[in-house]
Amino acid sequence: MTSLFPAFRFGGDYNPEQWPREVWDDDVRLMTKAGVTTATVAIFAWARLEPQPGAFDFEWLDDVMDRLHAGGVRVCLATATASPPPWLAHQFPGSLPVDARGVRLGVGSRQQYSASSSAYREHALRLVEKLAERYGTHPALESWHVNNEYGCHAPRSYDPESAAAFRAWLERRYGSIDAVNEAWGTAFWSQRYGSFEEIPVPGAMPTTPNPTMLLDFDRFTSDALRDLYLAELEVLRRVTPHVPVTTNFMGFHKDVDYWSWAPHVDYVSDDHYPYPGNPDAHLMAAASRDLMRSLGGGKPWILMEQATSAVNWRARNAPKPAGLNRVHSLQAVARGADGIQYFQWRAAKAGAEKFHSAMLPHGGEDTRIFREVEALGAELAELSQGAALLGREVPAQVAMAFDWDSWRAIEQESNPTTIKYRDTVLEWYRPFLRRGITVDFVPPCGMLDAYDLVVVPVMQAASQAALETFSRYVDGGGTLLVTYQSGIVDENLHIWLDGYLGPLQRTLGLHLEEFAPLAADGDLHLGAPADAPLPSLAVTGDLPGVAELWQEVVIPHDAQVVSRFADGFAAGLPAITRRRDQGGAAWYVATQPSRELLDDVVAKVLDDAGVAGLLDQPADGVEAVRRGDVVFLLNHTGKPATLTVRGRAHEVPAYGAVLRPADDLLAD
Ligand code: GAL
Repeated sequence: MTSLFPAFRFGGDYNPEQWPREVWDDDVRLMTKAGVTTATVAIFAWARLEPQPGAFDFEWLDDVMDRLHAGGVRVCLATATASPPPWLAHQFPGSLPVDARGVRLGVGSRQQYSASSSAYREHALRLVEKLAERYGTHPALESWHVNNEYGCHAPRSYDPESAAAFRAWLERRYGSIDAVNEAWGTAFWSQRYGSFEEIPVPGAMPTTPNPTMLLDFDRFTSDALRDLYLAELEVLRRVTPHVPVTTNFMGFHKDVDYWSWAPHVDYVSDDHYPYPGNPDAHLMAAASRDLMRSLGGGKPWILMEQATSAVNWRARNAPKPAGLNRVHSLQAVARGADGIQYFQWRAAKAGAEKFHSAMLPHGGEDTRIFREVEALGAELAELSQGAALLGREVPAQVAMAFDWDSWRAIEQESNPTTIKYRDTVLEWYRPFLRRGITVDFVPPCGMLDAYDLVVVPVMQAASQAALETFSRYVDGGGTLLVTYQSGIVDENLHIWLDGYLGPLQRTLGLHLEEFAPLAADGDLHLGAPADAPLPSLAVTGDLPGVAELWQEVVIPHDAQVVSRFADGFAAGLPAITRRRDQGGAAWYVATQPSRELLDDVVAKVLDDAGVAGLLDQPADGVEAVRRGDVVFLLNHTGKPATLTVRGRAHEVPAYGAVLRPADDLLAD
C-alpha cells in the first residue's frame, strides 16, 4: 500500500473570503510556521464566486491560490456548492428543501437546497465547470473537495421534484408497480397502488407509515445525494482527470449509506468531533476511523475536519485539555489516516461559528492552541520520514458487520423494542478496543475470508445473500458471532418465516420461537436457572452475569448451550449458544449482555477464534493499535496509564501518546 501524498497532510478549512487581504499574508506566514501542507479552500464561497447569477468573480481566489502556492501550501479546492447564494432561492424558490410537514426551509443558514432540485443542480454544475476550467492546472491544486458533508442538515426533502425523483427511483428499482406493491406489502391496510403516479413521498401521516416505503425513501435520499456528488464528479473527471477527488463523510451518519459512496471517491475523508466531556468519545472516534479505513478497502484516508479544542454546537462546549488534540490526531493516524486537518484554519470573527476553535485562535499565534498545532505539524512531518507509517496498512483479524438498512429498520417505530443501532454496535466494539484488537467494518455481503472472527450485531434486515455470506464464512472455517435481532427480516423488511434467521438457522443450529423484550429497564441474569424447563439441554460453558433489554425463546437443534437465562420470561432457555462443525464455529447471543458480561463473552469467543489483543490486560480509555511498523499506545484519560504489552509495562502520560517500533514492542 502506498500513500497518495508525499507526506502526512496537515492543515484545515481556509476561508479567506471572510477576511481582508492584509490578513492573507499573515495566514500564509503562520501556515508555514505551523507546517501546514494543505488548505481546503472555498467551501462556502459560492456567493463570493458568483455574486450575481452567471457573473463570476475569480480574481480573489486567483490571488489566494497564488499566495498559497508561493508559501508552499497545496490546495484541496472545494467545489463551493455546499451553500447556494441567496439569489438561487430568490429566483427558484422550489430549490429549497421542504420538511415532512410541508414547511419550506429558508435562506439564512446553509445547505438550503433539495437534492433533487434541477435549478440547484444546474447552477452548481455550472460553477464546478468554471472552477475546474480555471484551476485544473494551477500548481497549488492538490485535490478536489466536492460540496461539504452531504446530508448533514436537511437530507430529506418532500418537495415536488423530490417526489418525482422518488417515483423514478422506484421505477428503476422495481420495474413495475406490482413489484412495488409486493415489496412494500401493500395488501396491508389497503395501501395498494394502481400506478407510480399515486405514490407520494412519506411525509406526515395519521399513524405508522409503511416500513418498506420509509426504508426506500431513506435509500432514495442517500442515492439522490450521491447522484449530486456523481454529477459534480463527472464534470471534474472530464475537465481535470488527473486531479484526485474526495468529499467529506461524517463517520456513522444514518442518512447517508457510505458503502455505496466509497467506490466513487479517490480517497475517503472524514469529519469527526469527539466530545472532550464524554469519557466514551474515543470509542466512537476509534470505530469511525476504522469505518473510514474499511470504506476505502484498507486504503489510507484523510481526517478532513476535527476541532483543535471546543466546538460551538453542543449545549456545553468544553475545550480539549492540553494533549488531547494530539491524541485524537494520532488515533486517526494509527487507524489509517494519511492526513490530519481541521475546521478551520483561522477562528471566525463573525457568524454562527465564531465560538468554534481553530488552528489559529482569536488570540493569535502566542497561544496554547497554536503552539500545540505547531508541535503536531512538526511531529507529522517527522512521522512522514522513512517507510514505517505513511501509506501503510492497519492489520485487522476481526470484522464487524455494519449495515445502514438495519440501522434504518431497527429504529423505525413498530419494532419489538427500542434499540439504538449505532450505540449497540459500539457496545459490541468496546471489548475489542479494550484489548487492543483492531476491527474492520464490513458491509452485509462483504469479503470475510481474511478474518479470524466476524461479529454481526443486531443486523435486523438481511437478504438471503447476506445471510449466506455469513454461513459460507463458517463453512470455510471462520468463527462467527451473531446477536439477537439479526436476520429477522429480509431486504424488503418481510419476516424470515419459520423461526427467523433464514439460512443462518443451519449455521447457528437453532431457530427462534418468540421475542421477549423487557417491559422496563432492569437486569436479567445468566447462569444456573432454579428450575430449568428443558433439563435435557446440557450447559457446556459458564458465562454467568447480568444482561439487559432482550430475551427470546431459542430452540437449539444441534447447537451447544453455553449459558442459559436464569430468570425472566425465558428462564432456563439458552442465552448463548455455540455450534461447531467441520468448518468453523458459530456463536449466538440471545440478549444484550451488560458491559462486564459482554467483555467475558467476547473473551471466550476470541479464544475460540485464536485472536489475541495487543494489550495483556483489557483497559478503558486507552488504545493500542498497530499500523505499518509502528505501535501506537494512546491514553485518552486525564490520568497516567500503564499499558502492558507482551509482559512489558509502558507508561503513557495523561492525554498522551507513545509510539514504538513494532519490532521492539512485540519482541518476545
Ligand atoms: C462541520 C462542517 C464545518 C463546520 C464544522 C463545525 O459539520 O463541515 O463546515 O461547520 O462542522 O464543527
